[in-house]
This record gives sequence, C-alpha cells and structure tokens, in this order.
Amino acid sequence: MKQQRINLERKIDDSYDLVIGTDLLLRIAENLRQKQLGTKYAIITDSNVRRLYADKLSDALNSEGLRNDIFYFRAGERSKRLGTCEALADRMSAEGYGRDCAVIALGGGVVTDMAGFIASGFNRGVPLVMVPSSLVAQADASIGGKTGVDTEHGKNLFGTFYQPKKVWLDIALLQTLPVEEIRNGLAETIKHGVIADKELFEYLNSNIEGLLAKTEADLLHIAEKNCVIKGNVVMADPDEKGMRRILNFGHTIGHAIEKLSGYKISHGPCVSIGMMAEARIAQKVTGFDSVRRLEELLAKTGLPVKIPSGMCSEAIMEAVKLDKKSKDHRPRYCLPTRIGHMSEFKGEYADYVNDKTVKKALQAAR
Ligand code: GLY
Repeated sequence: MKQQRINLERKIDDSYDLVIGTDLLLRIAENLRQKQLGTKYAIITDSNVRRLYADKLSDALNSEGLRNDIFYFRAGERSKRLGTCEALADRMSAEGYGRDCAVIALGGGVVTDMAGFIASGFNRGVPLVMVPSSLVAQADASIGGKTGVDTEHGKNLFGTFYQPKKVWLDIALLQTLPVEEIRNGLAETIKHGVIADKELFEYLNSNIEGLLAKTEADLLHIAEKNCVIKGNVVMADPDEKGMRRILNFGHTIGHAIEKLSGYKISHGPCVSIGMMAEARIAQKVTGFDSVRRLEELLAKTGLPVKIPSGMCSEAIMEAVKLDKKSKDHRPRYCLPTRIGHMSEFKGEYADYVNDKTVKKALQAAR
C-alpha cells in the first residue's frame, strides 16, 4: 500500500462590502468596469424584475462598455428547482458564457439563492455580484453566501455556501414593490430584532407605518440594521457550524408550513407564523416572556400569526424532520430567551424539544 498526502491547507479571504444607498445602478456598472470581474456579465433575474429593472441595469453596463446578457426564468418559488438552474446554465453556455464570465443576481430571494447557486457551479464557479430588489433579499437572502434550490422534500435542501464579491442594496428598487412584499421582508427584520437587537424591535414597533409606506429614511435605517446584524452573525460563523443557526428562528416551522402550502404562502408570512409557534416553544423551554409583544408587532405589520386552517400539526411535525438542523431525523429548534437574545444551547444554538411541547405550541398557534 502506498499513500500520498495532498496538502491543501489554505487561507481564504472571502471578505466583501455591502453597499447601501439609493439609485445605484449606474454606480454598480462603474464599479464593475473598475473591478473587471469578468469579460462579460450574465444578469440572472425573473420575469417580474426583468420588466422593471433588467434593461436599466443592462443599459448601465453597456454605457460602461461591459458586455452582458439577461437570462430570466418565470417568477415564483416554484421555479426554484435544479431544472431551472440547468436550463439557465445551458442558455448561458449557448451564448458563449464560460469561466471568464461573472454573474449578477438581480431580484428577490428566489433569484439571489438560485443565481448564487448557478455562480457557485457554472464552469466550477464564477464571480457573483448581488443586486437584491426585494426586502427579503436585502434583509437576508443576499447577505452571507447561502445559495440553493428547493427539492421535492423541502425548502433549500440543495445548495452551497458561496460568498458574493459585493452586495448592492439599492433602496430605490423597493419603491415598486407591493406592500405584501414589504411585509415579507419585515418578517425577517422583526426576526433580527428578536434574535439580536431589542432597540430594533422597539424601532419597528414605533415606525411600522412609515416602513409599510416605504418611507426612504425608515427603509435606509432598517437596511443598515439588517446588514449589521446579519453581517455580524455571518462573520462569527460563515458556514453555520453553530451561532449562525440563530438566523433560523421562525424558519424551522416556517419552512415546513411553506412546503406544506405548496409554496402558495410566501416566505415572510410563513416565517411570521413559524416565529409565533417557536416563541411559544421558547416560552416553555427558555422562559421567553414576550410572546404577546411579538404577536402584537407581527399583527400590526399585517403578517399572519396563526397556522392556516386545514394544515395539521402532525404534518408540520413530519415536515420539520427534514430541516437542515435535524440530526438523525430529529429536529432542533433555535429559541430566544428574551427579545434581543438567543439561547446558546452549549454552543449549538439549537436543541431538541419534546414532541408534546411542540404539539402544544402548534395547537396554541391556531
Ligand atoms: N437565511 C439564514 C442564513 O443566512 O443563515
């Protein structure tokens, strides 16, 4: 027997900037001309965002002399599958895109997750720039390098960690969003308040009307807060070995509800219901004492707080077993101890909860 070692100890610097501002498309193009991330740029977007912003971004790139093409797919979570990625990658190859290109993800969470996944695999990986255009994507999905698609069995079950080169948070892009989409992103922002920042939670309580009216100052304020909170968690634990799990609050049950609804209920409302159920679990397990306050803020935002009628607890508990935090098919939950603080559970930041407690919390969330 012979043995040879492949020494692959590496030092990787994946650092990047999150840029927050308004009307940034021309700046993005100017910056890409300076950085030269690729010889040409694949703008990956969906059918909705294509109509609104893809041509504007493409024109901005053209004005800097940067070759680019728009590749789009039908908007909606149901497109977030491996088949869509393959079709997009094939179209890119057919247009002569190769390892020397870069991907620009322009859109909401479905686009940023899926374009990120394509960038991580296309020709074994090409540079990625995020231009999130929904509040969910600006608050969460575009930051931190999680990419992926849904499978038959659940949400985001196939994907990679792949950090972008830059994330551009253009508040102007939020102005065309319907209010439901703002609510969607506010669910993630409220989550950030619960897991890490009591002041943000209080701010949201006092300024929810301004946010729903898309007041620029309020949107800029929460963009900064979201970036700081999410950025700090990602810097502490980029590959989700422990602390990053706190970002899962509301998502363990929320993802199960999303899947069981056939993705007819959007992410934000599902996370909202998930937070209510998991807050009740926390009430029992960690002594979390702000279930009522959380319910009031979510309701004031116009987010649902009750599990849809007809969705039984047994089905939710079954779906939760496929959550990525599960071990040996046993789900683990990330739970707050108080507003602004999560339980560390001995460095795991997630723990098993007995079925009776989960079932009771699900019943109470009806
Ligand atoms: N969306 C949760 C995370 O980025 O970890």
